[in-house]
Amino acid sequence: MKTRITELFGIEHPVVQGGMHYVGFAELVAAVSNAGGLGIITALTQPTPEDLAKEIARCHEMTDKPFGVNLTMLPGFSNPPYPEYIEAIIAGGVKIVETAGRNPQEHMPRLKEAGIKVIHKCTSVRHSLKAETIGCDAVSVDGFECGGHPGEDDIPNMVLLPRAAEELKIPFVASGGIGNAQQLVAALALGADGINMGTRFIATEEAPVHQNVKDALINASELDTRLIMRPLRNTERVLVNPVVEQIVEIEKEKGADMTIGDIAELVGGGYPKIMQEGEMDGAWSCGMVAGLIHDIPTCQELIGGMVSEAEAIIKDRLATLAG
Ligand SMILES: Cc1cc2nc3c(=O)[nH]c(=O)nc-3n(C[C@H](O)[C@H](O)[C@H](O)COP(=O)(O)O)c2cc1C
Repeated sequence: MKTRITELFGIEHPVVQGGMHYVGFAELVAAVSNAGGLGIITALTQPTPEDLAKEIARCHEMTDKPFGVNLTMLPGFSNPPYPEYIEAIIAGGVKIVETAGRNPQEHMPRLKEAGIKVIHKCTSVRHSLKAETIGCDAVSVDGFECGGHPGEDDIPNMVLLPRAAEELKIPFVASGGIGNAQQLVAALALGADGINMGTRFIATEEAPVHQNVKDALINASELDTRLIMRPLRNTERVLVNPVVEQIVEIEKEKGADMTIGDIAELVGGGYPKIMQEGEMDGAWSCGMVAGLIHDIPTCQELIGGMVSEAEAIIKDRLATLAG
């Protein structure tokens, strides 16, 4: 399957693994890239730019295929040294960066000067167009279904993707809610040049997270996510559990008067405990696609299986319908 995305990134299959906090380590990234997709290291999971440099070097040892680094610019409680993280990416010879959160405009000159391809992840057509205007090479269009931060517009991919296709000149990947071959075909039909998956890649053999996290995904249905932090306009889709129910209750009670201080203790700093120690009672990003996750394949089995099944759907079922 050759698309503008496989051409742009020099990869075999139009499948990207989005940056994921405390999941996007070298083990998963190399496995995705070795399977012909594009693996992406999550920069800010690394405490310092020096640690990111080491993670990039570790990944180079595990794959000679292209991989990227995610740079998330959230309306954070801290302000990481982004220029230094960017220098670590450049020095590490990484040629693809996934930006997310705020508009990456201030960093574009340095990234472009270093010959880096930038794919910006955003949740609306207007932000996608802005990304195109400031020189991004591609966008990842993240629909309302997605795990993590779906933005505040609540437009699902069935409408968001064809809207993006109407407006964009640069290629885009469909992101959010995707986990099987039917959806890959649908994304291509809706105008995308590939897909980006987050949640689905957590339930793979190589994802370096605690087995409890993978089991939670297998056991979850599509009804088991909740939106938190909406009153702060920093909405996040997470897997439901007692702590998340508590956050939702506090948000209901406080309404528009809520501040981050009201829930900081419940949302902050849980990732290492959840992802590495398997202590599941905390808020962690998870998409509605959990309802479609029933197994824990290798990345090779997942990507290879999705692509060959997608080709079969196009050649057999869809070709017959057209005929
Ligand atoms: C556990 C988890 C952590 C994530 N962390 C980040 C992050 O740090 N930065 C980022 O840009 N996106 C992050 N995402 C979003 C993913 O990159 C991707 O856009 C999203 O998961 C796509 O939706 P899906 O989960 O339905 O496939 C995270 C997603 C998950 C599930």
